[in-house]
Amino acid sequence: MNKSKCKVGSNLRVLLEAINEVPYGTAFIEDGNNKLVGIVTDGDFRRLLLNGKGLEDLLLQEDLGDFVSAKEGENFDELLKKTNNKINIIPIVNSSNELIDYFEFKHKTKFTPVAEPTLENKELEYLLDAFSSTWISSRGKYIDRFEEEFSEFCNVKHGVATSNGTVAIHLALVALGIGPGDEVIVPDLTFAATINAVLYANATPVIVDIDPITWTIFPEEIEKAITSKTKAIIPVHVYGQACEMDKIMDIAQKHNLKVIEDCAEAHGAEFKGQRVGSFGDIATFSFFANKIITTGEGGMCVTNSKELDTTMRKLRDHGMSKEKRYWHDDIGFNYRMTNLQAAIGCAQLEKIEWILDRNDQIEKDYIKHLDHLNLFQWQKTYRQNRKVVWLMSCTTDKREQVMARLTSNNIDVRPFFYCLSEMPVYSKYLFSNKNALIISKIGLNLPTVKDIDYKRIASILSDL
Ligand SMILES: Cc1ncc(COP(=O)(O)O)c(C=O)c1O
Repeated sequence: MNKSKCKVGSNLRVLLEAINEVPYGTAFIEDGNNKLVGIVTDGDFRRLLLNGKGLEDLLLQEDLGDFVSAKEGENFDELLKKTNNKINIIPIVNSSNELIDYFEFKHKTKFTPVAEPTLENKELEYLLDAFSSTWISSRGKYIDRFEEEFSEFCNVKHGVATSNGTVAIHLALVALGIGPGDEVIVPDLTFAATINAVLYANATPVIVDIDPITWTIFPEEIEKAITSKTKAIIPVHVYGQACEMDKIMDIAQKHNLKVIEDCAEAHGAEFKGQRVGSFGDIATFSFFANKIITTGEGGMCVTNSKELDTTMRKLRDHGMSKEKRYWHDDIGFNYRMTNLQAAIGCAQLEKIEWILDRNDQIEKDYIKHLDHLNLFQWQKTYRQNRKVVWLMSCTTDKREQVMARLTSNNIDVRPFFYCLSEMPVYSKYLFSNKNALIISKIGLNLPTVKDIDYKRIASILSDL
């Protein structure tokens, strides 16, 4: 510590050597009587140079600003409070104001994840209730309740809970009888689960382009991609935006196609006043931890058809006959959700409107604080639709710079999905992808979590 002491009246070269001697980049300044009269950090030193001082100039009392110090004997909490979340070094002096020690605290900027579950209210209570009931596998009151309440939320009659959103799509495809030789139309901009489920069913995916404005599947392209083998369309309400379901349902009716809505990213979104999930033959949801509501891992198929509901329940449970235990009519799967997951889901569902409103407010706050930077084109909202905010989705020509800046400041951001058609495992299924290729490369998702420091984000990006 002695090496980092420096006297008023020394020249700046000596001061610089003192600052340079210690890893914490700070010199303690004493007067002729060894009393502490100031501190100079490497930042303060830069400012002295910028103010016109040279290395041979002397450090004067008036060059020293206010500083925070502590008295011998102050405890950790008092010292921590004095750092005020920004000061790293606090000198400690004795009763004669002589430096005897210093307190060092490194402030880390908090990591801001791109999404996080809100589990504060009833989640633990219901989870413990399910746990104590000993119904911890796939039977129990929370399963029935979650299926009932979630399908009601979607304005659909039946819900079949599954172990995740990917198997929900697969279950829907199999229940609709889609298999080898059948073509299924999927959008190019989606998470891989959509196309993987088609491949699990041994059907052939056909990748079509998206609308450049909504980023959802382009109805005109669906129509062009239809062949005699086409059996189904999977519109994906990507990033909270409802697909143009009126046009899609008209096309499906005209060509006698099944529709499975992939609603994994759009719980509560509406198209012309109607909830997503209630248009197609079956709709699927995901309750992964980053989704609008979560069960940890989890998913659900919803449908208005009693017959499809029965088929999916059976297929979800190994294809076992409901009447004759251990008798299997079909080769089914174990795609069941546990009562523990459903317990969390019930609690999440109680606050889904609150989550959606909070996310809407987050979107407004981003626009308020970042719009003036002219860096972002925000996801569009259509008046007759209810877009839900899952992540804060936008496009920007400076995506790589924005991502690098935010990531290095401990703020998690996500680029849009790669186009399915760009990946060698899927590229052979391409029908059209002109718009998707562009949007996928400029699309970006910003965090939608509590306590976002919008002003800090704005200042981090201000000179881009
Ligand atoms: C569009 C889309 N479909 C399907 C899934 C699959 O859901 P899960 O992760 O629950 O299997 C996801 C999410 O991850 C998704 O974003």
